[in-house]
Amino acid sequence: MQSKGNATLTWGDGQSIDLPIYGATIGPDVIDIRNLGKTGMFTYDPGFLATASCQSRITFIDGDVGLLYYRGYPIEQLAEHCDFLEVCYLLLNGELPTPTQRAEFQTNVTHHTMVHDQMLSFFKGFRRDAHPMAVMVGVVGALSAFYHDSLDITDPAHRAISANRLIAKVPTIAAMCYRYNTGLPFMYPRNDMSYAENFLYMMFATPCETYVSNPVLVRAFDRILTLHADHEQNASTSTVRLAGSSGANPFACIAAGIAALWGPAHGGANEAVLKMLAEIGDVSNVPKFIARAKDKNDSFRLMGFGHRVYKNMDPRAEVMRRTCHEVLTELGLHDDPLFKLAIELERIALEDPYFIEKKLYPNVDFYSGIVLRALGIPTSMFTAVFAMGRTVGWISQWTEMISDPEYKIGRPRQSYQGAVKRDVVPMAKRG
Ligand code: CMC
Repeated sequence: MQSKGNATLTWGDGQSIDLPIYGATIGPDVIDIRNLGKTGMFTYDPGFLATASCQSRITFIDGDVGLLYYRGYPIEQLAEHCDFLEVCYLLLNGELPTPTQRAEFQTNVTHHTMVHDQMLSFFKGFRRDAHPMAVMVGVVGALSAFYHDSLDITDPAHRAISANRLIAKVPTIAAMCYRYNTGLPFMYPRNDMSYAENFLYMMFATPCETYVSNPVLVRAFDRILTLHADHEQNASTSTVRLAGSSGANPFACIAAGIAALWGPAHGGANEAVLKMLAEIGDVSNVPKFIARAKDKNDSFRLMGFGHRVYKNMDPRAEVMRRTCHEVLTELGLHDDPLFKLAIELERIALEDPYFIEKKLYPNVDFYSGIVLRALGIPTSMFTAVFAMGRTVGWISQWTEMISDPEYKIGRPRQSYQGAVKRDVVPMAKRG
């Protein structure tokens, strides 16, 4: 990192420390506080509002302007000109592939799309009504029990094989979760199809009929994956890095990421959007729910609005909004009551002073939930789809961390506010 002088921190009776400042290629400078701990002081930053946990070359976000770059390329251009596997190659390797590299990567990934046959029996251990994310956490974690030959995290070749395996197998596992839920037979992956088309095939094909895919819907699904592929140090990615910092294997780390993604404030938001739309029920109820979202004494929030980093329009939401209209037009769904309701909610919230002042714009999950529903993906599968897209981001960030000579086990400190030392009173004397 480029040195940009020092910041001096002073406290107490004239104690002080010089802390180096480092520049970034774009974005804010950082103050290196690693030596602060030696003075006996720590910084306090729950929620990491002002803490860079690592240096990274993968994704750049400027939330004030509304920019998102993967390896320097604006997300809008990637969504327009590249398919998801090209984006995966870019995130993993730092450059867009040549046609030969693209073909080779596709072969490597498709070579791994099936899961070990013994994994099929795992599913029987779950209740049929288990949430797909509950099953995903377990089954993705269990991959480490099957692929022992790629678990040496110090070996770059092992890391690359694990990356390909995860990118290839997570969609297969996600589709299996849905098929198990619905009692439909598992469909084996089709390696003659594109990544997105194969997933829709594993979700919706049956062994007794020919499956015909719709290119508009396949493209829309591919875009959802691209838009979710990485988002720098968000909660699930930080979880993957933290789990990985102890030396845990990549399958276990990605399972940890899936667990963190599940929450409604993160990857569960697109599912929460659809539940909220169902709860609102009718366009006439929108003002009532907007009023509830603004009421400090009501915990209700408009799901799919607001973002920790974007205080301007989320650039992914802009792409997803266009895709959403393409899909609704293709399927003739513009008059569907739920979609009408979503569009009305978006209109009212964008004009409301509360949302304008607090810079609460629709985020990517607002539109991706609507597109996924139009594609026939059940609400309970939405976060699993997010996990499919994000797997490449997680594994790219994990690989970057393992290759970083400065990486250390992640071990935050705390400000202890509990009881001071006291002595145990024996049970007979308590009460
Ligand atoms: N509806 C109503 N009010 C909101 C909303 C919302 N969706 N989001 C934030 N606010 C208000 C909040 O009450 C607070 O008001 P005040 O300043 O009066 O206390 C102010 O805006 C700032 O909110 P915050 O919770 O301090 O902001 P945050 O950065 O901690 O939270 C968020 C970001 C995404 C968790 C939050 O906006 C939210 O809960 N949104 C709804 C859930 C959602 O859509 N999540 C998906 C995020 S995008 C997916 C991803 O990238 O993972």
